[in-house]
Amino acid sequence: MTSASSPKPSVLIARPIFPEVVQRLRAHFEVSANADDEAWSHDQFIAQLQGKQGVFTTGGERIDARLLAACPDLRICANMAVGYNNFDVPAMTAAGVLATNAPDVLTETTADGGFALLMAAARRITEGEHYLRAGRWQRWSYDMLVGQDVHGSTLGIFGMGRIGQAIARRGALGFGMKVLYHNRTRLPAAEEAAVQAEYVAKDELLRRADHVMLVLPMTPETRHYVGAPELALMKPTATLVNIGRGGVVDDAALAQALRAGRIAAAGLDVFEGEPRVHPDLLACTNVALTPHIASASIPTRLAMANLAADNLIGYLTQGRALTPLNPEVMER
Ligand code: 8YV
Repeated sequence: MTSASSPKPSVLIARPIFPEVVQRLRAHFEVSANADDEAWSHDQFIAQLQGKQGVFTTGGERIDARLLAACPDLRICANMAVGYNNFDVPAMTAAGVLATNAPDVLTETTADGGFALLMAAARRITEGEHYLRAGRWQRWSYDMLVGQDVHGSTLGIFGMGRIGQAIARRGALGFGMKVLYHNRTRLPAAEEAAVQAEYVAKDELLRRADHVMLVLPMTPETRHYVGAPELALMKPTATLVNIGRGGVVDDAALAQALRAGRIAAAGLDVFEGEPRVHPDLLACTNVALTPHIASASIPTRLAMANLAADNLIGYLTQGRALTPLNPEVMER
């Protein structure tokens, strides 16, 4: 905490964000902003953080033990993302640095984004657009770009957190789908009933689902959670959508399954090693690809940025943050 007479805390904004959010932060802090969006190496990032008490990160900036040791003034890292695989939270806790993420405000928008990809993949929307733009649409035919139905089909969701549940609601209530899910922990009965979802084992979900939606975070346990063995269990008419994190799917195995017609289609918003995309995926026509934009509506991105700013302001001026990942640091 700072008193009225003490200098303002210093914070670094690691990537360009909404000017109005920068203005809000300037009212409370000495702000250094990466206004030119320079691509910093990890060492350059550490250099920029010298003397800073807080940092506004956007999901790609790694906060690890080496950085924490080199930045003894740092007290809070506020991520403008619900996912926080860029944070080593145990190392942050050990160093007494608060970690915050940006949950809730993006739930419905991200679920919309997942559904958009599901529909694009199942109904071959991007494929149809490429076909039309290439001048290949000469006349109607009964089997031109026929795909799979979404309404009334079976949706399987891996990862039943807030976004998974928002997708389940869309499927069950909006599209009359039978919803299956698999999660590390089963939801309480009342929550399952609210989203009309049935808990099943991983293999059963893969076998029964017409559409599989991945909303999993990236952890050592979820790396290549869907690879060749899992794809082999899916229906040949099935679609696979990933809006969680790249690396949860083995992209090379997926490209092979798509090329071989092992599954019908895929929709991907996240990739192993993004922003690079596996060349074999780029060569597949039956996959809808978007550049990690599931949460990208203007109001939602603004709400995410404001929540990250609220966390910085709350913690560095009052000792309280809204969405801490290691709240024990706040209690010390
Ligand atoms: C972000 C996301 O846009 O919140 C998340 O975890 O994946 C997206 O909403 C992205 O992480 C920004 O880097």
